[in-house]
Amino acid sequence: MSRPYHIAVIPGDGTGPEVVAEGIKTLDAAAETYGFKLQYSTYSIGGEHYLKTGEILPDSVLANVSQADAIFLGAVGHPDVKPGVLEKGILLKLRFELDQYINLRPVKLYEGVATPLKNKTPADIDFVVIRENSEGLYTGSGGYLKRGTPDEVAIQESINTRKGVERCIRYAFEYCRKRNRAKKLTLCGKTNVLTYAFDLWERTFYEVAKEFPDIQTDYAHVDATCMWMVKNPERFDVIVTDNMFGDIITDLGAMIQGGMGVAAGGNINPSGVSMFEPIGGSAPRYTGKQMINPIAAILAAQLLLENIGETRAAAGIENAVMKALRDDIQDVSAGKMGYTTGQVGDLIVNYIRNSAGV
Ligand code: IPM
Ligand code: MN
Repeated sequence: MSRPYHIAVIPGDGTGPEVVAEGIKTLDAAAETYGFKLQYSTYSIGGEHYLKTGEILPDSVLANVSQADAIFLGAVGHPDVKPGVLEKGILLKLRFELDQYINLRPVKLYEGVATPLKNKTPADIDFVVIRENSEGLYTGSGGYLKRGTPDEVAIQESINTRKGVERCIRYAFEYCRKRNRAKKLTLCGKTNVLTYAFDLWERTFYEVAKEFPDIQTDYAHVDATCMWMVKNPERFDVIVTDNMFGDIITDLGAMIQGGMGVAAGGNINPSGVSMFEPIGGSAPRYTGKQMINPIAAILAAQLLLENIGETRAAAGIENAVMKALRDDIQDVSAGKMGYTTGQVGDLIVNYIRNSAGV
């Protein structure tokens, strides 16, 4: 058997540790069933650690996790810590330092899961958002003039580089080709108002498109994208967009696929270390109650296995999740599942073990 994969685990705050525990259960079951080994190093950074020590993301932790094969993150965010401190100091710092320039977020309605969209079925809601993850409004570029005075000016700049835009768009075309479904890539932008930034995006998009004649190209403004996601989500196969728009439309995406309990994402550096997370946050009011749905974290584990090349095991996890959602789980919302967090993990572990080789 080949060497074990090293997984850096950051359970984080709130319900992060509870859902990460279930993700690890399923990773272990998949590893055992499909014949590979995983080794974990756990880092207890997050709000609690910050309040106790004043440390946010120590350099030593950054150095260690950057040596891992992948990172599995629960959630960061603590009610007693000012908004932004942990988000910028941990989550965004990891994304930027590790140059995880893709944020991959599947929006998939599974059978047995209720969507708020009337008359839409799993056949209609199955697309992937590729969000640029290293630039745009997220770089922290900007500043104040005369802060706190009536003449205050606040500037927050969207940074879009040809290199950054192109590598994201290229990844999206390649992903769309590999996904091999409708083979349609939609650029989501705002070319009618953001005439500098999205001019660069649009020119780059159609230039790169020439290398992918098998992929159909499509464009939608971000406001219209929101409309289509609700009205005709079947229009989409793969969407590529900038950091801020991608943040916003993927929360909408999470809702149409059933809720935060089932929404996972990957922060990907295609030639480096990638990080996988449930996208729902730390849900402080559910902490320690075993009420939160671990499926988003389990689907993050699935994305992680796909990323390290264990595609059969990844499919094993997804099939097990599909079976649990179809046959067992009543409602994917916290507290309404008909099972505890741990019981959902156990169900899925059983299905992983029992369906191997089928
Ligand atoms: C997300 C989150 C983060 C983001 C926050 C917590 C900084 O909303 O992963 O979508 O805006 O990217
Ligand atoms: Mn978000």
